[in-house]
Amino acid sequence: MSVEKVASFSDLKEGVGFRVDLGEHRVAIFLVDGALFALGDRCSHAEASLSEGEVFDMEVECPRHGSAFDLATGEPRSLPATKPVPVYRVWTEDGDVFLAVDE
Ligand code: FES
Repeated sequence: MSVEKVASFSDLKEGVGFRVDLGEHRVAIFLVDGALFALGDRCSHAEASLSEGEVFDMEVECPRHGSAFDLATGEPRSLPATKPVPVYRVWTEDGDVFLAVDE
């Protein structure tokens, strides 16, 4: 497990995805109602970038074909995606944003 500072909290905008590339991990971070969520950025259907998707009701909608993914679990809530995307531990500390990824 590796822990990295990936952003300043002030870099994040409510409801707008923030993409982070960390080694082989491409991660989409979201700030929603003051809480942080981190999902694999590659949609499990055809690898569109979920950080470019719209957020609503604790889900992010893939910008390519519209599957919605649960921000907390990474599970798809609508077709065409049928597989989850990974979720990551993300938190803020002293104004910085940290992400934990498996190496
Ligand atoms: S690439 Fe995301 S639903 Fe198709």
